[in-house]
Amino acid sequence: MLTTPVAHDTQYYFDLEEKFGAHNYHPLPVVLERGQGVFLWDVEGKRYYDFLSGYSAVNQGHCHPKIIAALTEQAQMLTLTSRAFYNNLLGEYERYITRLFDYDKVLPMNTGVEAVETAIKLVRRWAYKVKGIEDGAAKILVCENNFHGRTSTVISFSSDPSARTAFGPYMPGFTSVRYNDLLALKTALRDETIAGFLVEPIQGEAGVVVPDDGYLAEAYRLCREADVLFVADEIQTGLGRTGKMLACDYEDVRPDILILGKALSGGTLPVSAVLADDEIMLTICPGEHGSTYGGNPLACKVAMTALDVLQEENMIQNAAELGAYFRERLQALRSPFIKKIRGKGLLNAIVIEHVSKDAGWDLCLALKEAGLLAKPTHGDKIRLAPPLIITKEQLDECVDIIGKSLGVLK
Ligand SMILES: Cc1ncc(COP(=O)(O)O)c(C=O)c1O
Repeated sequence: MLTTPVAHDTQYYFDLEEKFGAHNYHPLPVVLERGQGVFLWDVEGKRYYDFLSGYSAVNQGHCHPKIIAALTEQAQMLTLTSRAFYNNLLGEYERYITRLFDYDKVLPMNTGVEAVETAIKLVRRWAYKVKGIEDGAAKILVCENNFHGRTSTVISFSSDPSARTAFGPYMPGFTSVRYNDLLALKTALRDETIAGFLVEPIQGEAGVVVPDDGYLAEAYRLCREADVLFVADEIQTGLGRTGKMLACDYEDVRPDILILGKALSGGTLPVSAVLADDEIMLTICPGEHGSTYGGNPLACKVAMTALDVLQEENMIQNAAELGAYFRERLQALRSPFIKKIRGKGLLNAIVIEHVSKDAGWDLCLALKEAGLLAKPTHGDKIRLAPPLIITKEQLDECVDIIGKSLGVLK
């Protein structure tokens, strides 16, 4: 049956999702239909600055022309072979990404959490095959208030009740330590069954919690001393977001296992990767781990292009420079409702101080009205993370929008 496209109003789309979709998200009331660069447009034609960037998946900006060209060209050639066969792009991509990040090998996956799961399996394999821990006894240290995704294993070590409650039984083998607490880490590392330390260089979902200078470097040193793998989840912090290629680069830390995702495809499809050297990566043999879509030629082509444009178009430097400028300008607003401004590069958050527990949400609604999209995390923290291609003039306009919108909080 042929149907003429009908323009629907916003409410129509809210109702559709409400009726036919699971209620596992609570979106801001806006229906988007188009994106270009730092901008998004809703179904009524209104334009917004995107200050979420798909939780940092769209570092390169919406519908980056080079990424879309690579995507559409490759989509007409070959999209999926499965790993039952070789394809002509996987090896090229593997060489590209391992050279770029200086690791022996990469294991390609799709979503971020699959890459985290892969890293967990690699740590355990390494524990049994290399470190010599008794089979089944290996433990992994994680941090309080972490966010590494939503699978049943990963929520087993979450400290967020909304991620965890009533989803048990939980996977054993994880021990939680306080984030940014070197003494806690040092003490926990005395346990000889610890095989890995899984850490976000900045805790994004927790509200952009930046650890003290020196934390990552010392944590890495302590892990080395204890023969424990340092595993960095750079799914949100990596790929230029914080003003360096990796947030670990700020402290010259080279993780034993590096996890990437999100912006690896510039917001076009789920592409994630785990990088490690042979001693770790080759503990997994054929048939022991994988994914139907992992390493598909479409993803490989898109990922190489997404990494190309990140480097060619000065996005990382821009994130460093404009991030510092942005925090200065936010500070200069001197709003009594902003308790804290924190971040690195263009991964930033403000913590709202207000008698109303809905103040974060209300502010995001006001920002939306004024043409800027951001979303609260844990109620009072608002992440401010535009695509890395934003200009100084655009950022100035956004600070004005934020300043005016704060006026709704009386
Ligand atoms: C640090 C970190 N790890 C893992 C994930 C999970 O990624 P995905 O949603 O692609 O599974 C996220 C997503 O927000 C993240 O921020």
